Amino acid sequence: MPQESLIDIYIMGKKYAVPESLTIMRAMEFAGYQLKRGCGCRTGICGACATVYRIAGDHEFKVGLACQIRVESGMHLAQIPFYPPLKGIYNIDNLPPSASSIKAYYPEIYRCIGCNSCTKVCPQNINVKQYIAYARKGDIAGCAFESFDCIMCGLCAYRCPAQIAQYNVGILARRLFGKYLLPRDLQLQQRVDEIQGGKYETELQRLMKLDIQELNNHYYSRDIEA
Ligand code: SF4
Ligand code: SF4
Ligand code: FES
Repeated sequence: MPQESLIDIYIMGKKYAVPESLTIMRAMEFAGYQLKRGCGCRTGICGACATVYRIAGDHEFKVGLACQIRVESGMHLAQIPFYPPLKGIYNIDNLPPSASSIKAYYPEIYRCIGCNSCTKVCPQNINVKQYIAYARKGDIAGCAFESFDCIMCGLCAYRCPAQIAQYNVGILARRLFGKYLLPRDLQLQQRVDEIQGGKYETELQRLMKLDIQELNNHYYSRDIEA
């Protein structure tokens, strides 16, 4: 079987030869890094693996998800395992679904200069600038829908000259939308009432006593929609 060719990359300034087919995440592991932070789903969903990189000879810094981007020869990279954003602590029960609620916790959205850096950097191709504009106008539904695919990777905030934590603004809008503006689902409410009323308690207690094999059998023999 032909050997895969190796390329040189630089992880936090140190040179490693890694197979060219690997993602940044796999290449870091190939180089001996044990990823405890900055690694989660490995499929581009959890937003844990934000990474900054530059290709030798190119002045431009790029960012992306380590589990989704393939290594390139001459890549210099470092992970951003955590970005320390401003995070409002609020009780959603006491917040009306209006611009004032977002303004109270994230007044910096009014400093947005419309540079669009956040939109350009977003690995989910979300129009981040637009959802911040919706938030400024108090359009909670617009902000909630536009930010819906956000995976909270933090890359937009990392690039924002106005130092806005856009993803925290988005999640506040989605919470407000879900709590106050989304029409109630009566079937869901009925099921919640049943659960709270103890309808499934006996069955849950029975399941809790099963061993792993019995649970497996139970799971795989369940009724599944065609
Ligand atoms: S909106 Fe920001 S935090 Fe959300 S996925 Fe895009 S870049 Fe990441
Ligand atoms: S990066 Fe910041 S300032 Fe620029 S458009 Fe996005 S939110 Fe506005
Ligand atoms: S590990 Fe979850 S998005 Fe990369």
